[in-house]
Amino acid sequence: MGVFRVMLRAAVAVTTLPASAIELPPPDRLAAETGMSTQTVEVVEPHMSRPGHELRVAYRGFEMSGLLDRLFGDRWKATGTEVVFFARDGYRSSTDSRRFVPGSAWLAFGRADSKPFTVDNPGQHETGVSLGPYYLVWDNLRDSAARAQGAYGWPYQVVRIDLATPADYAAARPQDSDPVAVEGFEQVRKYCLTCHQVAGIGGGKFPGDLRQIAGPLSDRALKTWITEPQKMHAGTTMPPLNALLPEAERDRAADAIIRYLRMMPVRDGTTP
Ligand code: HEC
Repeated sequence: MGVFRVMLRAAVAVTTLPASAIELPPPDRLAAETGMSTQTVEVVEPHMSRPGHELRVAYRGFEMSGLLDRLFGDRWKATGTEVVFFARDGYRSSTDSRRFVPGSAWLAFGRADSKPFTVDNPGQHETGVSLGPYYLVWDNLRDSAARAQGAYGWPYQVVRIDLATPADYAAARPQDSDPVAVEGFEQVRKYCLTCHQVAGIGGGKFPGDLRQIAGPLSDRALKTWITEPQKMHAGTTMPPLNALLPEAERDRAADAIIRYLRMMPVRDGTTP
């Protein structure tokens, strides 16, 4: 474990990442360096299932709570901490660390049946999407609440794991006095910071601070970007806000996001 730490630190030093970020080595090295064995877990594959038609897939992977213990010690269990997964293309997926209880999730690196480690994603008109090097899967066979989440929180092409604390979000958090903006912040955190950044926190799929990006747009244009991005740019890779939400809830979420983006000051030094 001592050797592993030193090696990880060295890898991190060259890339100016927060000190806790861990670049994942290939599975055989991850197993050797953590002393963990790999396991098989069967799940309802959310990218290839729809109501009434569930496709089960068995994956090989590392049990997540055990892996987090080895990678971060006890730090990941601190209240309010999120576990953050970065994909090769800059996509960022964060999950409350409390969801990682023993047996709830695995970091998969292949299929148990040795078929290609890919999924079809009809929702985004993609087939044969590569899942490696790592893919976060949840035990949604026994946990129906996890099944209801669909593919939310199942990042693939994961190359790096990090932790985020409430302090990391402090500069992006609005004043508590405006409940709509606070709700908007929570929605942005959930639905936008996967790809965009606010006050230096978030994913790297589209560069720039989201408040500045939103600045020149009218409320109407901004709302259309959020709910129907295809209308703003046909063929865009930006997805519409959670299509699983009922229409009224989606509308409300979009309005709260706009309120938040409009009221958050863009201070010098908080923009990349
Ligand atoms: C999966 C990644 C992804 C997510 C999630 C996402 N975006 Fe985007 N967004 C993009 C990409 C990529 C573009 C550039 C799109 C283009 O030009 O086709 C973009 C463009 C935009 C633009 C227009 C930028 C311009 O060119 O002026 C706005 C505004 C925007 N996003 C807001 C949001 C908001 C608000 C959310 C959350 C509700 C969000 N995005 C969620 C990836 C994403």
